Amino acid sequence: MPDLSPSPHRTTALVTGASMGIGLELARQIAMHGHNLILVARHRETLETVSKTLEAQHGVSATVMVADLSDPNAPAALFDEVRNSAIHIDFLINNAGFGLGGEFSDTDGNRELDMIQVNIAALTHLTKLFLPGMLERRAGGIMQVASTAAFQPGPLMAVYYATKAYVLSFSQALSEELRGTGVTVTALCPGPTATNFADTARMSNSRLFVHAGLASASDVARYGYAAMMRGKRIAIPSIRDRVMVQVVRLAPRAMVTRIVKAIQQNR
Ligand SMILES: NC(=O)c1ccc[n+]([C@@H]2O[C@H](COP(=O)([O-])OP(=O)(O)OC[C@H]3O[C@@H](n4cnc5c(N)ncnc54)[C@H](OP(=O)(O)O)[C@@H]3O)[C@@H](O)[C@H]2O)c1
Repeated sequence: MPDLSPSPHRTTALVTGASMGIGLELARQIAMHGHNLILVARHRETLETVSKTLEAQHGVSATVMVADLSDPNAPAALFDEVRNSAIHIDFLINNAGFGLGGEFSDTDGNRELDMIQVNIAALTHLTKLFLPGMLERRAGGIMQVASTAAFQPGPLMAVYYATKAYVLSFSQALSEELRGTGVTVTALCPGPTATNFADTARMSNSRLFVHAGLASASDVARYGYAAMMRGKRIAIPSIRDRVMVQVVRLAPRAMVTRIVKAIQQNR
């Protein structure tokens, strides 16, 4: 039976949205490489199952902390819970997030405000809270899960694309501010990936998700983990998406925006 108590000799990563999808696979990568974990999401039972599996398979400690990051008080409460458990966070993985498809004039405004809270405010707040400890220790890694959506406007998912543009811009600026401190920031920018994301966003029938080329969450996580450990600023897992991002940079913005709208429509 492995010793599962948090070891002072191991580093610890806090992963938000660790119960499924990309966050679960990032947690798996982190555990595989021998780091302890704090697993965060809303559903305790799912997190407990993930925790037991990762502890048994990789001999690390995986502590469950339940938080609804659409609650503006959640980041401070989570920070206090971590501090009270006397664990310090070496890696912060801000992965929790969701989207919502549809014309902005028809979508549920409360859901979009929750999205801004989770995708932007909670990510910023957690970074604010955990960064000072990393700077004191002159070591740490922060991964902000953005998206290829960050690189252009996204009609029919307008608020989601805008949240990811924020995440990318914030990550790049912070990364430059932290140069030479021992703390790095990586913006992970996956393209369409096979997770629950499209269902949650009501985008499962959009052309964007109805094609054979969806990435697997485990491939995205493997690439993201390696990029974070190298301190890479922007990590785009797929070669096709790396090319697309360069094309988008050079193409007229209005044209790109029209194309994105066509791709996001239903089949
Ligand atoms: N899949 C894609 O195509 C894709 C592409 C680019 C970027 N991304 C980004 O990747 C990240 C992960 O998405 P995914 O594809 O893995 O989606 P997913 O399978 O739906 O997983 C989302 C995770 O976030 C958690 N979560 C959702 N709302 C939360 C809240 N209010 N508070 C705390 N945790 C919450 C969920 O757990 P609970 O339900 O238990 O809370 C779950 O663990 C997101 O930031 C997303 O924008 C996804």
